[in-house]
Amino acid sequence: MLLLAPLQGYTEVEFRRAWSAVFTGIDLAVSPFIPLAEGARFKDKHLRDVLPNQNKRLPVIPQVLGSDPAKFVNLAKRLQDLGHKTVNWNLGCPKRSVARKKRGSGMLAYPELLRSTLEKLIPNLPIGLSIKTRLGFEAPEEFFDLVKVYNDFPLQSLIIHPRTGIQQYEGEMHLRTLDLSIHEIKHPVVFSGDVKDMQSFRALSGRYPQIDDWMIGRGVISNPVLPEIIIGKKGVEDIEVLRMRQIYFHDELYCEIRAKLERTKNILNKMKDYWSYFSLWFTESDKIFFTLSRMHNLDEFMKVTKRILNEQPLSVIEGRSNRQVKIGG
Ligand SMILES: Cc1cc2nc3c(=O)[nH]c(=O)nc-3n(C[C@H](O)[C@H](O)[C@H](O)COP(=O)(O)O)c2cc1C
Repeated sequence: MLLLAPLQGYTEVEFRRAWSAVFTGIDLAVSPFIPLAEGARFKDKHLRDVLPNQNKRLPVIPQVLGSDPAKFVNLAKRLQDLGHKTVNWNLGCPKRSVARKKRGSGMLAYPELLRSTLEKLIPNLPIGLSIKTRLGFEAPEEFFDLVKVYNDFPLQSLIIHPRTGIQQYEGEMHLRTLDLSIHEIKHPVVFSGDVKDMQSFRALSGRYPQIDDWMIGRGVISNPVLPEIIIGKKGVEDIEVLRMRQIYFHDELYCEIRAKLERTKNILNKMKDYWSYFSLWFTESDKIFFTLSRMHNLDEFMKVTKRILNEQPLSVIEGRSNRQVKIGG
């Protein structure tokens, strides 16, 4: 099974709807995280992202970020009322402001706190729990103790991004540490990290034949047809057909973003964010990204993207990317 990774600011419902109107190959998405609110109420705007009737084509598992078991249970009850059967717990967020509060990847440095939180959480949770984790906060070896904790609880799956919190999203993944611990894990494992083309998928799935479920994030945004290639639905597609599908997807996404954000400046900034990845669809990606990132007028921006989408040579049949995407936030 292929899953869409949560990327806050990118893979919200607008993206998921636009992508699934045009492309296939992904069975399930995990939503970008819903923060546990300070009070008993949760912002409706966060729950809107995971309303099942808004996520029909591509079903979504809601993700929660926080460490207070009572609030977690409270939110899980609301998710259950909406019809959700699983909730995912974010133990990977690397933001300093989050980690400092022992949330996200910050909790990974405290396995006993993790254990006591799960002890309070699991008996009261009305729906199933899956966890998205890193190997540790500071050092990948922290994972050995974390696995012992995870194994003591009933989890639906363990989604592993094999970096540490302090690595953020860059640098080598610590696959040797994962090699040493994967046989110890009792739960179904989902791998999340650096599947960016067929080559990287082959290498990783060859290394971990016991893993059935793969989660892709940046690889889908920088090559929306990648899931179809991975599941073997598409070989090398007619390049002009691919171009038409990308244009259709881009149009859908723009409509969704315009409806959501309304203010011109916000729409422009959001489309620019997406183009930090979409530029990789084209051979001249650096030049395109540079040109677009300096634009200040939305109409002009959309005119230029239209020209690019229709005319620029495509690079992404197999999604090879030479450039690291620089993302804000
Ligand atoms: C901009 C950005 C936002 C992210 N937001 C989340 C998030 O909300 N929840 C989460 O569990 N992981 C988040 N991640 C991590 C991804 O889900 C994923 O594990 C990571 O990017 C590695 O996979 P990839 O190489 O396929 O993108 C985020 C990553 C990026 C780059």
